[in-house]
Amino acid sequence: MSYLLAILLFLSGALMNSTYYKNFDAIAKALKGQDRNRFYLISKVWHHQQSPEDLRADLEQTLKQLQTDYLDAYLLHWPNSEIPIEKTLAAMEALRRDKKIRHLGLSNVSVNHLKRALEVGVPITWVQVEMHPHFYDPELLKFCKEHSIAVQAWAPLGRGRISEDAALERMGKKYGKTSAQMAIRWIIQHGCIPLPGSKNEKHMRENKSVLDFMLTKDEMEEIDRRAKSGERERFCREDIGFADEFDFTYEQCWPK
Ligand SMILES: NC(=O)c1ccc[n+]([C@@H]2O[C@H](COP(=O)([O-])OP(=O)(O)OC[C@H]3O[C@@H](n4cnc5c(N)ncnc54)[C@H](OP(=O)(O)O)[C@@H]3O)[C@@H](O)[C@H]2O)c1
Repeated sequence: MSYLLAILLFLSGALMNSTYYKNFDAIAKALKGQDRNRFYLISKVWHHQQSPEDLRADLEQTLKQLQTDYLDAYLLHWPNSEIPIEKTLAAMEALRRDKKIRHLGLSNVSVNHLKRALEVGVPITWVQVEMHPHFYDPELLKFCKEHSIAVQAWAPLGRGRISEDAALERMGKKYGKTSAQMAIRWIIQHGCIPLPGSKNEKHMRENKSVLDFMLTKDEMEEIDRRAKSGERERFCREDIGFADEFDFTYEQCWPK
């Protein structure tokens, strides 16, 4: 676990992107000459590329640019209710059987999306969602735990806002930890995997140094309370074809 965590902590900012982010050439360069098995490579397929043909093309392009034969995990970046989930997941499962991907996952989903996706009967290993001390979705976490689905927390530092959180800073003083470390530790104690992004080596080291202390039950509950009443980052930009599908009912997401 700590080995995987360390890799994710160091590399998540660079690796957790789809072809959308155009950073694969740099990653391929960094991985050149390295033992591929030491790295856990995850990519995501963008919203409008989830038809079986587009998805296969996206993965081919991803593997080619990363100069690798397989991804450890491939996730749907955002749900798209206009493309039947059965078709998308069947295409991903075929790629898994062809050993081009090892695990499947979904990003930016609610419990509704996940229930519907599980009905398709394809094994789902990962869920990647927004989670930090200013927002989390306890219902989704509980559901994932019950279905043995591992959760990755994106923007675990609230895109940097956590470092200005006076309450976390105060709480961290007792342990000699910063508010960023408190946020990461809270995520780990929820059994989730934090994906902090950083371009600063000091911050990267700080973000890794979170395994030598433990938040109390009261502290966990205090952070939970605040996070539960927080708001998720909405992402409905018509210029790139998104609708906000979080609030869809069970029947509306990926209609049958
Ligand atoms: N699935 C999705 O839709 C989705 C959406 C958004 C993000 N993500 C993924 O989530 C990961 C992280 O997201 P993110 O980078 O946007 O947000 P984040 O990790 O919450 O925050 C990054 C910001 O925090 C700062 N920071 C990092 N460590 C710090 C520390 N110890 N003390 C103070 N400031 C610190 C960074 O600045 P410095 O560079 O100066 O350290 C940067 O400005 C990325 O891999 C991203 O791809 C996924």
